[in-house]
Amino acid sequence: MSCPVYHGAPELNPGLLPIDWLLGAWESDEPGEGSFPSIEPFRYTETLHFSHVGQPIIIFMFNAFEAESKMPLHQECGFIRMQPGTNRVAFIIAQNSGLMEIEEGELTGKQLSLKTDSLARISFAKTPKVKQISREFQLRSDGRLEQTVSMETDNQPLKQHLHVIYRRPS
Ligand code: HEM
Repeated sequence: MSCPVYHGAPELNPGLLPIDWLLGAWESDEPGEGSFPSIEPFRYTETLHFSHVGQPIIIFMFNAFEAESKMPLHQECGFIRMQPGTNRVAFIIAQNSGLMEIEEGELTGKQLSLKTDSLARISFAKTPKVKQISREFQLRSDGRLEQTVSMETDNQPLKQHLHVIYRRPS
């Protein structure tokens, strides 16, 4: 599934060249590993889609599923922007859990390191409240993509929640 916003074949905006390695589809290679001190460890699969419409902006959709039952669990979608002429990157993210976040950080080589700049939540989102999220994407030398997500909640300090490695779909 791609983001159905534009049906042409737009040329890549040069502003996206530093992060063009994200574009296209990815799927978890082995199931991802979920953990946090207050929950049971879990395994999940995930697909990622990164597309563009010719603007210097990446549009993305992430869909995560419970590994065994394949039930949909978590979804995130949003936009990625780079500050022109710099290595500054911003992710604008909406999550199905009722969280909206802006993560900002830097691109170093083929690694993106981000943390929340602001976080908002719907009034009836599940507790605990997420206070901070930090996230890394890295394109590995074997061509696979790795994502690690950590979070702080109002009753746990910053700890890893997710680790997953993706490959290009065959
Ligand atoms: C940045 C993204 C995410 C955030 C901020 C987030 C946040 C949270 C929070 C706050 C909890 C409750 C922790 C507690 O009870 O102390 C949780 C639990 C959980 N998360 Fe995530 N999560 C994210 C992504 C994901 C993804 C991609 C999956 C993949 C399937 C996932 C699966 C789960 C599961 C299975 C639980 C335990 C059951 C539950 O509380 O619903 N989460 N997550």
